[in-house]
Amino acid sequence: MKNSMALCAALLGLAMGQAHAGSGGDSYNLVEKGRYLTTLGDCTACHTKPGGAPFAGGVAIDTPFGKLVGANITPNVANGIGSWSFDDFQNVMSKGHSPGGKLLYGAMPYTAYTKVSREDNQAIWAYLQTLQPVDNAVETNQLPFPFNVRTALIGWNLVNFTEGEFKANPQKSAQWNRGAYLVEGLGHCGTCHTPKNLLGGDKNSAFLGGANLQGWVAPDITANSHSGIGGWSAEDIVQYLKTGANRFDIASGPMAEEVEHSSQHWKDEDLMAVAVYLKDEPKDVAVPKALPASEAAMVAGKAIYADRCSACHVGNGEGVDGLFPKLAKAPLVNGADAASMIRVVLAGSRAGATDAAPTAPAMPSFGWNLSDENIADVVTYVRNSWGNAAPAVSAGEVKDLRKAMLDNR
Ligand code: HEC
Ligand code: HEC
Ligand code: HEC
Repeated sequence: MKNSMALCAALLGLAMGQAHAGSGGDSYNLVEKGRYLTTLGDCTACHTKPGGAPFAGGVAIDTPFGKLVGANITPNVANGIGSWSFDDFQNVMSKGHSPGGKLLYGAMPYTAYTKVSREDNQAIWAYLQTLQPVDNAVETNQLPFPFNVRTALIGWNLVNFTEGEFKANPQKSAQWNRGAYLVEGLGHCGTCHTPKNLLGGDKNSAFLGGANLQGWVAPDITANSHSGIGGWSAEDIVQYLKTGANRFDIASGPMAEEVEHSSQHWKDEDLMAVAVYLKDEPKDVAVPKALPASEAAMVAGKAIYADRCSACHVGNGEGVDGLFPKLAKAPLVNGADAASMIRVVLAGSRAGATDAAPTAPAMPSFGWNLSDENIADVVTYVRNSWGNAAPAVSAGEVKDLRKAMLDNR
């Protein structure tokens, strides 16, 4: 409500400032376009604190190097971007520089946003101008020494950043190019789904190949047929991004948030473009060999699965469409890194609710009634049954993650 009043006031201001009649409509369209683009870019995720004023900052982002906090990007002069010009904003999006030559950290995903067109940035800028200015001072850089020294980012950028607007590939369709623009640019899917090097930069040779984020795994979302989503149709991908669930999986953790804030609101044609792009160049890979069913961990795991898991995920791991995720041939299950799976079994999880699927089903936690050994066995069993094949999990890995989760509470 507050938001739309601010919008009206700003539009009146814009319209009254116009020299000729009729152009008020154009600025309205520009602002609406900008609003949609900020949804595509999920700026809210890091710039709006839950329950806080829109875009007034304060969201803490945990990185392997320490804590960064999303800035106040409302048009407040003292503590927001109220005194900036459009070019100042364009420099943030395309170069990762704020006014005064301040270099920004990659937690602000300018490494992806650099691909956003200047025209789209103008619309985002127009929309940000209509926000309620909020006088909220935010110290974004809360990293420990030496990571808090911004000049080190000169070197970081040299290694990890390629500046430049998206260039269409003339060999591909307009739809594919729209998908590439969204995935590589505003959608910044690689921020979570691309593995990182030791400096926290993207390993671009493995773009979207899956990555571990502070205890969650963002799985491989390439068209790889074993560890990726090669088995999903374009419609499956659209349904997942629109509703947070499909016949294979239900989004949880950071992806549930992404769906709630962002992708459920994307236009269907944009979701379809993403799907067409992600499904391009399917990679059929040889399925690795599963552990033999006779192995001790597999025998023990099978019994635990029958007892504790099969009621929901079904005996053959097929799950129940839209309610209980399919565990057979699931990317999350076949990934090299089992952290997400172990976390879900230890702590349980509730999928995000979306407008399309308002009640989210829940996965119970087993941390209190299964031992590290039990969890290692059942996870190993799931990872090596019904067409799945992935490295076994040890009781030690479960123990370490259990401890890390307790420490972070
Ligand atoms: C994944 C988290 C994340 C997302 C998504 C994100 N930002 Fe940021 N943003 C940050 C962080 C963290 C900072 C502060 C970085 C620093 O101080 O080095 C920042 C800084 C900024 C700044 C600079 C503010 C200043 O005072 O210097 C602007 C402008 C900005 N973001 C705009 C946006 C817009 C527009 C979007 C959406 C298109 C967006 N951000 C999406 C995390 C994010
Ligand atoms: C903030 C981090 C983050 C961002 C940004 C993000 N994802 Fe995800 N994504 C995840 C995580 C974590 C999972 C695993 C969710 C789970 O375990 O249920 C996931 C799961 C998925 C899956 C399901 C894969 C499977 O095997 O079940 C798809 C498809 C997907 N993401 C697509 C995208 C696309 C497309 C984008 C960009 C528009 C995107 N994601 C942006 C973190 C993210
Ligand atoms: C009461 C029903 C129920 C039981 C029992 C149950 N689960 Fe789940 N499980 C769910 C639901 C619902 C989700 C989706 C939750 C979400 O997305 O946040 C889920 C998610 C998962 C996931 C993540 C799948 C993915 O791709 O995102 C794994 C792995 C999993 N369960 C394994 C197990 C194992 C192993 C057991 C037995 C130890 C088990 N579950 C018992 C309901 C159940």
